Amino acid sequence: MKDLFAKIYRDKGPLGKWASQAEGYFVFPKLEGEISNRMKFQGKDVITWSINDYLGLANHPEVRKVDAEAAAAYGSAYPMGARMMSGHTDLHEQLQNELAEFVGKEATYLLNFGYQGMVSTVDALVSKDDIIVYDVDSHACIIDGVRLHMGKRFTFKHNDIESLEKNLVRATKMAEQTGGGILVISEGVFGMRGEQGKLKEIVALKKKYNFRLFVDDAHGFGTLGATGAGAGQEQGVQDEIDVYFATFAKSMASTGAFIAADKEIIDYLKYNLRSQMFAKSLQMQLVVGALKRLDMLRTMPELKQNLWKIVNALQSGLKERGFDIGTTKSCVTPVYLKGSIPEAMALVKDLRENHGIFCSIVVYPVIPKGLILLRMIPTASHTLQDVEETLVAFSAIRKRLEDGTYKRVSAKLMELMGE
Ligand SMILES: Cc1ncc(COP(=O)(O)O)c(C=O)c1O
Repeated sequence: MKDLFAKIYRDKGPLGKWASQAEGYFVFPKLEGEISNRMKFQGKDVITWSINDYLGLANHPEVRKVDAEAAAAYGSAYPMGARMMSGHTDLHEQLQNELAEFVGKEATYLLNFGYQGMVSTVDALVSKDDIIVYDVDSHACIIDGVRLHMGKRFTFKHNDIESLEKNLVRATKMAEQTGGGILVISEGVFGMRGEQGKLKEIVALKKKYNFRLFVDDAHGFGTLGATGAGAGQEQGVQDEIDVYFATFAKSMASTGAFIAADKEIIDYLKYNLRSQMFAKSLQMQLVVGALKRLDMLRTMPELKQNLWKIVNALQSGLKERGFDIGTTKSCVTPVYLKGSIPEAMALVKDLRENHGIFCSIVVYPVIPKGLILLRMIPTASHTLQDVEETLVAFSAIRKRLEDGTYKRVSAKLMELMGE
């Protein structure tokens, strides 16, 4: 019989196999200093384009003050126990009510983490007779939620309404046999490429098919829509989203998340969400901190305006210089270049060491082989000067990518890896 660990000793996985070359630099880098537009990486100043602090709240003095006061008042233990048992408070309730009002839903329920909350919500919404139809490019937390489903599931091609409709036809036939219902899952903003989910078109299909829509709006909440209520508000279909999800880990610059829906649905979920029934309540300093952040989202529209000033400058600057930024319709700013993984490594090293630019790279298997995706997250704390310096740097690295400099630099690396 094989040792369980044999496969682990043999194969570190598609990303893990790069660990010895990549760890500490390309993956698991240590960014130091206060969270802002400029931080330190390995002792060097860098402009940071990889932090989801969209509204610049992470290090906002008022936020820091409230966080510190809440930590002093409550410590990190309070309240102890799951919400249902001994971890429920007035402030949890207040935050839920204020969030519901902000996103225009009857009720909300807090989640300790977005990831496990999503997994658990998908799990709680369906039973074995139901059918899930979800976008093939969904975030891992959606996929993991779907994995728990005992019944049928179909993927539709990414953001492809024709494909969704085909799958709705199949799902409808199947649901008629099983006696179940249909849950469609999409995202408000797809975080890798920045496209908005086609919520308006999806909602239009409700006229022909009977389904409920669940939207993960992690990147849209606080950044899109007239009041920051997200992609549903931006596309004028917030009311037709049956279950809305957002995390505090992006525009709220914190930890935690919530789901929003009609009161009856939330009442059901709060008694059936295993991730909340069997886990400790969201700690109070996070609840107090979220109340403060939400108040700022409501009362300081300049935060979102500043964010979009930077987004527009960065995206139009890149386009003017002929960069391919794909089909983004959000703050997430992808830059697509052609090259191998070793070339991508050489390019990112050049960006960091010689231009002081820190951004994430995404390569195969997350995107197709031969493509390099530099994923940039503009925030309200960036300046136009940051944008200008970055555009100049990007032009320089593209030139070196095209003239083969990175190929030469990376040849040795490829040799080492036997690629
Ligand atoms: C689309 C999406 N959904 C869910 C999550 C998970 O949220 P959290 O970080 O609160 O666990 C993320 C965060 O990475 C995300 O991008």
